[in-house]
Amino acid sequence: MSKPLFDRMLYGGDYNPEQWPREIWDEDLRIFKKAHINSATINVFSWAKLQPSEHEYQFEELDEIIEGLAKDNYDIVLATSTAALPAWMCRKYPDVTRVDFEGRKHGFGHRHNHCPNSPNFKRFASQLVYKLAERYGDHPNIKLWHISNEYGGECYCDDCAKAFRVWVKDKYGTIEAVNEAWNMHFWGHTLYSFEDIIPPNYLGDGISDTAAAFAGLSIDYRRFNSDSLLDNYKMERDIIRQFDKETPATTNLMGTYKGLDYFKWAKEMDVVSWDNYPSYNTPLSNVAMNHDLMRGLKDGQSFMLMEQTPSQQNWQPYNALKRPGKMRAQSYQTIAHGADTIQFFQLRRSKGAVEKFHGAVIEHAGHENTRVFRETAELGAELEKLGDTLIGAETKAKVGIYFDWDTYWALEYTSGPTVDLRYVDQIQQYYDACYNKQVAVDMIHTASDFEQYDVILAPVLYMVKEDLAEKIEQFVEQGGSFVTTFMSGIVDKSDNVHLGGYPGPLRNVLGVWVEEIDALAPGQTNQIRTEQALFTQSEFSCRMVCDLMHSEGAEVIAEYGSDFYAGMPAITKNVFGKGEAWYVGTVPEQMVLNELIGNLLDQKGIQGYDNLPEGVEIASREKEGKAYYFVMNHTEEAQIVTTPFENFRNLLTGETENHQMNLKPFDVKILVEA
Ligand code: GLA
Ligand code: ZN
Repeated sequence: MSKPLFDRMLYGGDYNPEQWPREIWDEDLRIFKKAHINSATINVFSWAKLQPSEHEYQFEELDEIIEGLAKDNYDIVLATSTAALPAWMCRKYPDVTRVDFEGRKHGFGHRHNHCPNSPNFKRFASQLVYKLAERYGDHPNIKLWHISNEYGGECYCDDCAKAFRVWVKDKYGTIEAVNEAWNMHFWGHTLYSFEDIIPPNYLGDGISDTAAAFAGLSIDYRRFNSDSLLDNYKMERDIIRQFDKETPATTNLMGTYKGLDYFKWAKEMDVVSWDNYPSYNTPLSNVAMNHDLMRGLKDGQSFMLMEQTPSQQNWQPYNALKRPGKMRAQSYQTIAHGADTIQFFQLRRSKGAVEKFHGAVIEHAGHENTRVFRETAELGAELEKLGDTLIGAETKAKVGIYFDWDTYWALEYTSGPTVDLRYVDQIQQYYDACYNKQVAVDMIHTASDFEQYDVILAPVLYMVKEDLAEKIEQFVEQGGSFVTTFMSGIVDKSDNVHLGGYPGPLRNVLGVWVEEIDALAPGQTNQIRTEQALFTQSEFSCRMVCDLMHSEGAEVIAEYGSDFYAGMPAITKNVFGKGEAWYVGTVPEQMVLNELIGNLLDQKGIQGYDNLPEGVEIASREKEGKAYYFVMNHTEEAQIVTTPFENFRNLLTGETENHQMNLKPFDVKILVEA
């Protein structure tokens, strides 16, 4: 077990007293206490106040905020405030703001929008963080450094162009190697020198977020931009480390956010934290997958829920209230998937600007007599009672799902075969096949240890880079079950096709050769026909993409039903060493994946929880040889479920449960063997 970072479960959230008159501060603390809040994330957007002009710093107010919280023994999450630029800086040093994809230079306004390669941004951010770390680095109540906030977006300014040329030169050495990597002889785009390299926005070779004239270039720009922002993070962290060697540092991530290679980021973070904002209709399994991905970033280490709303969103199209009990159930879902903290955005709802309709622990009414407050307080009391029982508990999964930001970028930049293909949607379908049986999943990456899994699913494994193909072969050879799909094994790390037939380096393990790829328009379908007993029907529909493939030794599990490729293989299985490698050549209806993957899981003896009503979830964590099973009803209706947990004790109530249990609307039970 990795060493837990906190002694207790942090319960609190973003707190911005500097945006309120002093009279309210004591009242805040009085109310928070009633909700068992033990932690506050402060100083997230205070740069303008901390440094009102270029040569002037003011920390007295922050001193007071910190002392006020410390007096009541709060665990403080101290942010560095570099996520929003002060007006004076934008006015005097315009290089701190970005040039966007359309080529427009931005001025003062908004947030999360500094240029990562701006010399002045780096200078001022370093100075601010230096002063913060010097002043508060040894403060005993500061339990976490929160660097900047929700890093994201891209910049295409001249400073970034310059830095990109250096990045490219470091990576490739010569301009010939760059031409080769990006295939620049196409359209006569041959670069003669590094000076010819232009950031690929709309004014250059960029087309949009999901199309690029030279994907190799655009992918490298994404890598560079992710690295540039990560350098900003590292710069701040390293300054903090001059004064504070111990306190962990993080920044809040955003699930499957496309812009940053979070696997790379996580290596530099002491703990992963993320902001979970599902909308009223976000599938439960999508939230679960995001949590699993966040846990996967540091290979299973507990993560933090840095933000969720206690009640309502403001930035979604339809900001439904969280129904009574829903916030609690969502919080336990988060813990069940590996979180050690529950934090809200925010503790007091702002009175003006864009987030005045965003839920908070203290609403505009200003007191604690609200439904939202009562629910927050009840959860706070429960978590306090749980103490450190679950802190650091681990998830044991035998299924790995491969996720990779390079592949995400490359797949979505492709021009053809269809505009409908979205990376996360495809991953989700395979995740759902596991979720359907409530089987635990780890989200894994290129460097993960494959050997700890029995089953690895790698949908749309478009980019096969490094030693991935060999790792997969080894995994299957030694008895693993591997599943991949259409649009896999197609390109190398630079987005150039692995020549010689698809799926390139995966052809050997899969035993198939894909000759052509058909795209189906919305509404068009083909059929998958099968005689295999593992399916409950002999015909299913499929859509979007159909690979036209030949078996090169693989067993044909299903064939297409119509069109000129009727009778060609649609799903294959190749026995390879002691294991098997499956290829799904199309987007089948979900039932096909549920049955196919369900069967693989059964074969491997990987058990989940079958036959739960929709909206009921079971997930577990283990600590010191003890397993904790979270049984969660995410629906507004009461449910009756049958589980294997006979005579288990519910940690939250002390009651003993039988196989068959009643779940109230949004009910949660945490069960342990008595
Ligand atoms: C993000 C930010 C917060 C706040 C919330 C609102 O997660 O980090 O500052 O704006 O969104 O949902
Ligand atoms: Zn820039």
